[in-house]
Amino acid sequence: KPPIIVREFAQLLGLKPFKLISELMEQGVFASMNQTIDEAVAIDLAAKHDIVLEVKHRGEGQTPGQQQPTKKDIAKQKEKAAEEDEANLEPRPPVVCILGHVDHGKTSLLDTIRKANVVSGEAGGITQHIGAYQVSNDNGKISFLDTPGHAAFNKMRARGAQVTDIAILVIAADDGFKPQTDEALKYIKDAGVALIVAINKMDAKGANIDQVKTQMQQRDIASEDWGGETITVPVSALKGDGIDTLLEMIQLQAEVLELRANPQAKASGVIIESQLEVGRGPLATVIVQRGTLRVGDAIVCGKEWAKVRAMFDDQGKNVKEAPPSTPVRVIGWSGTPESGSTFTTVKNARAAEDMAEEEADKQKGQVTSKAAEPKEVSVEALF
Ligand code: GTP
Ligand code: MG
Repeated sequence: KPPIIVREFAQLLGLKPFKLISELMEQGVFASMNQTIDEAVAIDLAAKHDIVLEVKHRGEGQTPGQQQPTKKDIAKQKEKAAEEDEANLEPRPPVVCILGHVDHGKTSLLDTIRKANVVSGEAGGITQHIGAYQVSNDNGKISFLDTPGHAAFNKMRARGAQVTDIAILVIAADDGFKPQTDEALKYIKDAGVALIVAINKMDAKGANIDQVKTQMQQRDIASEDWGGETITVPVSALKGDGIDTLLEMIQLQAEVLELRANPQAKASGVIIESQLEVGRGPLATVIVQRGTLRVGDAIVCGKEWAKVRAMFDDQGKNVKEAPPSTPVRVIGWSGTPESGSTFTTVKNARAAEDMAEEEADKQKGQVTSKAAEPKEVSVEALF
């Protein structure tokens, strides 16, 4: 990507450089005329001036030394992508995130839905990462993200809530609302995603559904049968009760949301997690949001890039392509890409490597900004 230089960026926005510098300062970013600023900062600032900023990638119609794109160019480009999307939009499966307090039965619920057994393999029975799965039934596919309920993993919960269409808030009937239930609810509300409450452990001694519904009412998410709007399904992950109803509710909600994406587009999506695996090198669990990701594609994500060497589904099976809403594990990375960041497909490995390198250089030469942390969050929120 071309670096965003303060002087040129000011020109693009139609501002005097000193005006831009003072606006940057207000955001805690201190940069002089000839310094570069972070793309995220630039996007935010441009938005304040009602300009949608799209930084053109090298190799995408821009030769080095060519002029920065004008406002008109940018608007046109956006329009074109939108038109292309509009013509090719197809229904896509919902991405459903399971959130809730530790031990309330999130993984068990998914195990029952998948008829798998993940819980028994977890250290101390505690989930410590985001699991990504896809199930298919008669009504189509559903992609699920399992999140940890342990207090320490708040970032993962927030990230989970942000990349989803529908959130399932799991509340144990014998325990009610707990700190991480409330924390998860806050992320769900902040992300503006659809909410379904699953009251789990209905089989347990001391299960008290009325208490949970009272607590829901107190939090302005009253259950439908209590005059509110929240779809609420009592379930037992252990016995399998209520699971079919829960799946039906997810499908219904997904229909209401009319989820669609363009499978023909160049793939882009979000890094759910990444790790280093002995023998395989860096590995990233990604969720494709737009387009179809294929083995052999060149993708770039921040300062890392990949020529997709292989992709695996949640069963560890090799897959050749991943259409919209599909979670896959991708190998072939230069390093571990940052969780929560977005990836995009580019022309070829060469372009991907160049862009990643440029990003790495930029990060090195970057002015330290107080705004860096919150900015990261707002970029995630874009998706
Ligand atoms: P974290 O991922 O660590 O936050 O936990 P979790 O929400 O995934 O809970 P998990 O599925 O690991 O279940 C925690 C405990 O609750 C396990 O011992 C499960 O067997 C038990 N459990 C889960 N669902 C039910 C249920 O429907 N009824 C009863 N009685 N126990 C359940
Ligand atoms: Mg779990």
